[in-house]
Parts: sequence; C-alpha cells; structure tokens
Amino acid sequence: MKSFHIITFGCQMNEHDSERMTGILEARGCASASVAGDADMVILNTCSIREKAEQKFYSELGRLKKLKDEKPGLKIAVAGCIAQQEGSNILSRAPYVDLIFGPSDIARLSHVVDKSLSQPSPVIDTAGDPEYHRKRLPAARADKIKAWVSIMYGCDNFCTYCVVPYLRGRERSRPPDDIINEVRELAQKGYKEVTLLGQNVNSYGKGLEQSADFPSLLRLVNDVPGIERIRFVTSHPRDLSEKLTVAVRDLPKVCEFLHLPIQSGSDRILASMNRKYTRAEYLDKIMRLRDSVSGLALTTDIIVGFPGETEQDFELTVTLLEEAQYDGIFAFKYSKRPGTAALNLSGHVPERIKEERLARVLDLQKAITEKKNKALSGTVQEVLVDGHSKRGGTITGRTRGNKAVNIDGPASLIGSLVHVEIISTGVNSLTGKICE
Ligand code: 5AD
Ligand code: SF4
Repeated sequence: MKSFHIITFGCQMNEHDSERMTGILEARGCASASVAGDADMVILNTCSIREKAEQKFYSELGRLKKLKDEKPGLKIAVAGCIAQQEGSNILSRAPYVDLIFGPSDIARLSHVVDKSLSQPSPVIDTAGDPEYHRKRLPAARADKIKAWVSIMYGCDNFCTYCVVPYLRGRERSRPPDDIINEVRELAQKGYKEVTLLGQNVNSYGKGLEQSADFPSLLRLVNDVPGIERIRFVTSHPRDLSEKLTVAVRDLPKVCEFLHLPIQSGSDRILASMNRKYTRAEYLDKIMRLRDSVSGLALTTDIIVGFPGETEQDFELTVTLLEEAQYDGIFAFKYSKRPGTAALNLSGHVPERIKEERLARVLDLQKAITEKKNKALSGTVQEVLVDGHSKRGGTITGRTRGNKAVNIDGPASLIGSLVHVEIISTGVNSLTGKICE
C-alpha cells in the first residue's frame, strides 16, 4: 500500500484520531493522498452521535462503492464510532468494505492494514485495546500552530440520550507524564496552543496510579515553555470544581473560555437525561465562574425535543439561554440512538415540533451572540494569528475567548500573539486593527 485518504466525520476527538492514523500510516511509509481517487486505501472515520452523522457516512460509502467499481484494487476501511457500533453489520449493507476497526484499536492500525492487504475477505477488529490510553502514538497534525492533545478516553456518565459510553468505553486517563512529554514536543516543534481533549476532562485522573486531577494537569501544562495558550473540551457541569475555577483564573496560559453543555433548562428533563445537576446549580456555577474569571466566554450544547419535553420544558430552555447569555451555542434536535435509555422513554416529540424549537433557540442565540460580540467593539484583544483570512482582512486568528477575528496585517504574523483593537463585529466574526 502506497497511499491512503482519510475522510473524517464528527467531533474533535475523531479529527484528532485521524491525525493519529495519518501519523501511524506515514510512519510505515505510506503517503496521504489529497483525494480518494488517488489512494490505495480510503478510511472513513465515522461518527454516530446523531442519525444525521450516520446518514452522511452511508452516502459517502455509496460514493466510494462507485469508485471501487472503477478501481477494484481499492481498499475501503471503516473506523470510528459507527465501526464500533455496527461491527460486521456494516458488511450486510456494504459487503465491499474491507476493514472495520474501532476508536480504541488505532494502535493496531498498521497490523490490521497488513492483515487486510494479505487477505481478500474483510478484517474486523473492534475488540478495543485495554492499554490504549498508555500507548504513545505518532500524530501527523494538520495545523502547525494549534494542536489537540487527548488526555482521556471514554465516558462514565451515561446521559440517557448518548451513545458515546457504549462506543468509546469507560473513562481512562492518560498518564500525566505522557501528556506533558507530548506537550513539550509540540512546543519544541513551534506549536503555540494546545486543546486538551476528552469526553469529560474535569474528571481527569480517575484510576491513575500517579495521583492527578484536571486542575493539577493544567498547572503542569501551563509550565511548559513555548506553549502560549491552553484550552480544553468538554467539561461536565457536575464535575466543575472550585479548584478548576481557581486554575482558570490564575494560570496565565489557560484561556478564559469554557464549553459547558447544559442540554436543557428544565429540571424535569435534566433528571430524565441523567445529567445530575439542576438548572439552579448550573446557573450558580456559571455565576461564580464569571465572578472569578473576568472576561470569561461561555458556550454550551442544547438538545431540543428530548422525549417528554413539553412546551413548558422548552420555555425553560429559552429562559435559560436568556439568563445564561452564552457567547455561542451548539443546538441539536434529539436523535434516537441505538442502545440508549432515552429510546424507551415515552413522549417522543414530533419532528416538526423539534424543528420549530431548534429554529427558535438558534434565532434567540443569534441575537445574544450579536449583542455579546458588539460589546467587544473598541476593546483590545489578544489574538493568536493562525492563518490567512477567507473573508475580510488578510490574516485571521482567535481571541482568548475563542472568537474569530479578521485583521489587516502581514502573513509574517501567522503563529504570533498580537494585540488588536476590535473595530467591527458580526455574529460569526470580529474585525480588528493591530495596536501599535
Ligand atoms: N441527540 C441529539 N443530540 C445529541 N448529543 C449527544 N447525543 C445526542 C442525541 N442522541 C449532543 C449533546 C452533546 C453533543 C456533543 O451532542 O448536546 O453535548
Ligand atoms: Fe465523537 Fe461522539 Fe461522534 Fe464518536 S459519536 S465521533 S465520540 S461525537
């Protein structure tokens, strides 16, 4: 096999898994092809969080079938969450698939590729590697300034709508030394920002031999010379401790930005989702956060139309958004996922109502985001310049609060921190002028 092409669906975890796969395949001498048509193997790194992600995967698979008809030697591999969920079932729908492996099998990628190359029949390996979190794997990162670093895998929360714990397994934290070594290497390569990744980073450290928790990990990363900014996703509101608030406040490299998914504003729905916090507890936490961390930017996830969500429950989500004043939200229509507890709840909400509710929260949030961005007009923001701008200005970057800023400035600033005065604002981005 000389070349491969990876198509990635889903979250940052998956994006980063694809970087790992690229690193492993490049280490064995294969080259990454920029289009599927030029590759000997195409890997679909799949997502199963909502039905729509699954549909996207099956339509892509259909396109690849046509490519394989023209090019019979082409190997098609399915990786990621759908591979884990469906395993050999994928073959009954798509018998032309050659290789199926899950998210915790990536360390064996080279081995399964060899096996697939040596046999015509499909190879399926979704057993998972119990030691995966201790493996030090190469990664070919797409970006040269900002890097994702996994700190933990899996999830123990079992929110009733969510398929992740069934696919990515129980929580396993990477040893702190491995993480710090990786961050040091990144700094040596010139990376300026790291985003620590995990399904629930706040509970980092569970089950580790070396005692560690997330705030202490942040301190260690903060001490790595060369790294200028630290971000992390995702945080579970229940596990957001006072100690973490203090770390975000006091550690200079940790950005004043938090993604804190609430999901719903109704206590009845939160209980039914098994979120283990109430609306009041959540609002209290964000109030304390904002009191201690000045300039904190906050984003969240919302699910509309969860089973049993009445008009009154939904109104509570609307008023929650008004109260919380997020900088941005990700909102989704509830989607039935195989094997999850919410499937068996009564009161599934009709699609039309879900759509109306989704449109309403998105409209409301758009106005809030617009207003919050407008408030930044005239302020001076620290921006990490990370590339050429696609619209307006010549270069682009992000504020510490993770807002995109377009700036008129030379490309030589890419990779640097600059101070920028915000001169105009929109919903999706800001425009800034470099301060002398
Ligand atoms: N339906 C809709 N949204 C979901 N999410 C997770 N599972 C589902 C589902 N079954 C959303 C949650 C989560 C985000 C990553 O995806 O809001 O925080
Ligand atoms: Fe990521 Fe979850 Fe999708 Fe898997 S199912 S790719 S963990 S969002």
